[in-house]
Formats: sequence, structure tokens, C-alpha cells
Amino acid sequence: KNIQPTVFVIFGGTGDLNARKLAPALYHLFMDGWLPEQFAIIGTGRTVLTDEAFRDRLLEGINQFSRSGKANADTWKAFSGHVVYQAADVQDAAAYEPFARRIQAYAKEWGTQPNVIYYLAVSPDFFPVIAQNISKSKLSADPERTRIVIEKPFGHDLESAKELNQLLGHIFTEQQIYRIDHYLGKETVQNIMAFRFANALFEPLWNRNYIDHVQISVTEQLGVGDRGGYYNGAGALRDMIQNHLLQLLCLVAMEPPVNFNADEIRNRKVDVLRAMRRFTPETVRESAVRGQYGAGWMEGKKVPGYREEVESKPPSNTETFAAVKFFVDNWRWQNVPFYLRTGKRMHRSASSITVQFKDVPHCVFPTETAESWQQNRLIISIQPEMSIRLQVQAKRPGLDMMLNTVDMVFDYKGTYSNEAPEAYETLLLDTMLGDQTLFMRGDQVEAAWDLIMPILNSWEGRASQSFPNYSADSWGPEVAEALIARDGYHWFTLP
Ligand code: BG6
Repeated sequence: KNIQPTVFVIFGGTGDLNARKLAPALYHLFMDGWLPEQFAIIGTGRTVLTDEAFRDRLLEGINQFSRSGKANADTWKAFSGHVVYQAADVQDAAAYEPFARRIQAYAKEWGTQPNVIYYLAVSPDFFPVIAQNISKSKLSADPERTRIVIEKPFGHDLESAKELNQLLGHIFTEQQIYRIDHYLGKETVQNIMAFRFANALFEPLWNRNYIDHVQISVTEQLGVGDRGGYYNGAGALRDMIQNHLLQLLCLVAMEPPVNFNADEIRNRKVDVLRAMRRFTPETVRESAVRGQYGAGWMEGKKVPGYREEVESKPPSNTETFAAVKFFVDNWRWQNVPFYLRTGKRMHRSASSITVQFKDVPHCVFPTETAESWQQNRLIISIQPEMSIRLQVQAKRPGLDMMLNTVDMVFDYKGTYSNEAPEAYETLLLDTMLGDQTLFMRGDQVEAAWDLIMPILNSWEGRASQSFPNYSADSWGPEVAEALIARDGYHWFTLP
């Protein structure tokens, strides 16, 4: 692919995201030959560091978090030659002058103006001031060559998301703005579209006539850890449902695009968000439940409850678990429930989408299990298992005519010998290529906020009396089971 000479300017260069995700991803892109010959990474942060000290930090991150383990000495040497550090107080417009100087020096050395990607891996409080200072210092004067990448969270609610969109819109064109939702870069998530739209088999069934309901579940064993400062002001609904889980829902529910153009795909996805049934204070109560973990034992170790972890006074009302029943009010999905759930400190880490098909109209066979006999189910496992399985009924071998459920499985491990790239590799490559398909457009972010605002308002206006209501290492609060059991279902988990 034709990738232009590129300079990455990473704000938050000394931070966690760079060490864990960005540096390992850039290193892998380099190793696999995806970076142009002429590229540079300028890390920036408040701390004063030499280039050498900064490189050492990145190497530590790569050694610890890269998918291929410890860096190869020669590859690292070649890669790190492209990495420099520039300390800067990002709130001070004058501190941006050295970036301009460095970029011009690269332009001169390379004999061409490079593309420049400003990556904001910083706390959201700094998004506005960095964007403004980039503009003041004329660093974004060329809209064809400059791009800005904004990490999540994009806004704290609908209003702040709109404000941020407006502010960015005064400085950059929409084609320059790359809003990250790293779930969209995951291999298995990208495959949802391939699976749906490159196979004639499923699309005819993909509607209310054949699909009974859909479940999207993202559970994590990890607790809030040292991210309490951010998380306690966010909660599971903002942190996961507003972005990652609703994006998965869009991929399942969207209409077929006419082509693979970024805006065509994003139009089809935003159509889904706009079609989603709005909540009222009454329907919030029926459709959305929340939880907060208490202490418990995980893998033989005692783990503290959320309130102990964040040490908040008064006790925190932040949810670490959320489950919501959504509807998409259009022809395809009328009255098909979409159940979404996510939580921390759950029994297992697993992300999956389960599409439950309707039963046959009349069944003439005896079956192995009398109760809750689900005939056809499609399970898209996003992580850690990467697979798609179709559950069908088959005759069990034997002299009697007895059916049981069997799995037709496509799993990545058994099918492909190459390792899947990390989401950030895909996303960073796409920012270089100028492909916005896997990034959030401004209207998508706002539509997702708009949808969940009634739930946020209701929860924030009414402290939960029952927190903590699930213990670490469980499957979440009882209210979540009740939410789905009322409709006659259970949350599905892979054995
Ligand atoms: C982030 C959330 O966006 O996604 C975290 O802020 C969460 O709270 C993480 O743990 C999950 O991402 P992944 O890729 O580990 O599933």
C-alpha cells in the first residue's frame, strides 16, 4: 500500500496507553513492513527526558505488552532510530513551536512534506486545549496532510460530546478527525461485516422473521484497578455501552451497505442508532439494570470490593455492571430485543454476540433435553476465544431417533496460522492510509449519547440502595438475570 512519509506526534507519550498499546502496535507495523521508510515518532509529555530515556520506556512497554513478546534487538535498534522525545507543557501554545521545527526538519531531510498525525493519548480534559494549540501554532494548516486522533472517552454526556465536536469542527474537517473506539479494530469485530455481507446464507434469515433475540455480552475479570479516578466519574454505561457495545449492536443490526466506503458504512451504522427506541423514565426502570461489585475471591485470591478500591466518600454510586434491553424500531428488527450486558470483576472475561434464531414451527423429534431447547444459535466469540459457531440440531448416533445440539465451528486458531494483529495496529495503519471506516464519526458519537442519556439521568438522580449487589467472581447482579428471565431467556455463556 502506498503510505506517505509520516510523522506521529504522540501526546501522552510517557503515559500508559502509549506503553501498552501504541508503541507495541507501531513496533509491529514496523516489523511487518507497514511503516513507510520515512517516518518519525515524536513522543511528548511534561516530564523532561532524553530521547534515550524515552526509547527505554517504550522498549519496556513493548517487552511487556507486545503480542510477540520481547523485542528483537536488531528490529528495535532500527525502529528506535525513528523515535524522539520533545518535552512540552501542552497548555502553553509556545511549547508547540519545537514540533513545527522538527516537522520542517523532517520535510527537508525527506525532500517532501510528510503527513502528520497528532495522537491525543491524554486525559479528555486536555483534548480542547491541545486541539486549540495545534491550530494556533498552525500545525494543522494543511487539511490534506494533518490528522488528529482522539481517544475515548469522547464527552461525558451528550452536551459535552456536542461541545467537543463543535470545537474540533472549527479547527479540523471531519476527514481529519479520527475518534477511536478500539473495539472496531479487533479482528473478530471486523469480521462481523464480512460474515454478514460476503455470505448469501445468513442475510435472508437476518431479520425479525427468523431471529428471536440478540445478546451482546462483554464481561471482564479485571476490577477497576488504578483507573478509579477516571472510572468513578464514568461507570459501565459510559465506559462500555455508549461506545463498544452499541457499536457491536450496530454491526449486527445495520442494513447492507452499497459499498465499502467509510461514510457509506458509517451512515448505515448511524441509521441503527437513530432507529433505536427511546427510553422514558418509566421504560428505563423496566429495561436497564445496574450493579456494583463487592469483595470476593478470584482464583484463590481475596479481592476488594469496588467501594474499597476507589475509597470514595460517601460510598460510590458508580455502576461497574450494566445490562440494558434495547429495541431497534425499523422493519428489519421490529420487536426483536437486543440484550446488552457488561461488567467488571465477573466470573470470566469473554466478549460475544449470540444471535438466537426462532424455533421450528413444529417439531416431530424427541430431544435430549426437554427444557429450554434452543435449536439454532449463532455465537460470534470476539475474545479471548476467536470463533464463530453455529449451533444446529443433529441426530445423536444410536438406535433411537434422538436429537441433540451440535456446533459447527469456525475458529481462528484452527483455520489460520498467522496471528491476528492487535486492534491498535489496524487503527494506526488506517490513520496513515486516511481510512475512516473503523472510526467514529461525530454524529455517531452524539447519537449513542442521545440514546443512553435517559438511563444516565435516571441512575444519577437516584442512588442505588442495593450496592454492592454482586460479588467478585459472579455473573453479575440478580437483577440482570431477572431482566432477561422475564422474557423467558437466560444470558448465554460458552461452556
Ligand atoms: C476500555 C474501557 O475502553 O475498554 C475499559 O475503558 C475496558 O474499562 C476496556 O477494560 C476493555 O477493552 P478490551 O480490549 O480489553 O476488551
